[in-house]
Amino acid sequence: MSDALRLIHTPLGQRGSGRVRYGAAMALHGSGGLSEAALEVYRICSPLDAQDPVPMLMERGLTPPPPAPPPGTAALRHLLDEADSYLAGLPGEGPAEVRLGLARGGPATNPPSPTAHPLVEEHLGDALALLERTHPALALAIAAATPHLTWTTYDEYAPDLIGDSFPRSHAFASLVGGEAPFHAADFDFGLFLIAPHLLYRDRRHKAPELYAPLTGPHGWRFAPGAPLVIKAAHEPVWNDANQPHLTKVGPNPLLCFFGWTADVNEPAEIVPAPDWAALEALRL
Ligand SMILES: [Fe+2]
Repeated sequence: MSDALRLIHTPLGQRGSGRVRYGAAMALHGSGGLSEAALEVYRICSPLDAQDPVPMLMERGLTPPPPAPPPGTAALRHLLDEADSYLAGLPGEGPAEVRLGLARGGPATNPPSPTAHPLVEEHLGDALALLERTHPALALAIAAATPHLTWTTYDEYAPDLIGDSFPRSHAFASLVGGEAPFHAADFDFGLFLIAPHLLYRDRRHKAPELYAPLTGPHGWRFAPGAPLVIKAAHEPVWNDANQPHLTKVGPNPLLCFFGWTADVNEPAEIVPAPDWAALEALRL
């Protein structure tokens, strides 16, 4: 449907564009998105590459097709569908909670504002190569959506507490949320990528949070100073509100879905711990 909507707006004057618009009109008609009478207008205009069908539609009292969706909308929608299917296969309350939020997202109300990030250029390919061994469709969906996502960094932590490495070793992109391509109030869901070996120090936030790691292994703890628990890819982590958590990335980049299900505008904060230097030097 979105391909047909894009193609029905093929610029006037391009050689063969009249036939392309007619083909798209047939597809839209077939899916119930264009009337028989409007289709006839596109048929009449099909040999006339420079002829705009819209004035003829208006003359006949017919409604023109809606505007073309922004580029990337289909890829982002496909990723959202793949993400929802993926979460449906995970155990626990967290994935179910996040899926309720995903159902509130959309239609796409914020036009995509693609922003690349060097961390993504450097590490996403390696992460997707691992993911595609077990989840090829999901890996493909992430690769196709990535150029249309707004990749950015989280900068709410006190710089002296978060340390030097975190700001340049992570990137995230929201898919569903207040400013995301698919709008949902007080909810945030997207992709999160962290460089190999990074220690993401103990922190907490009011937002209940799901991590659904697509790569692994990585270490976690849920109290400052506690020993690490090693988790593999596809083992979700659910953090209740204000639950401290720390993440030690293993030798592979950590790619995950994240979900914040409430209080998303409350900033996260670092929780001091005495053993960060040892954990930063540690190699899983
Ligand atoms: Fe968190």
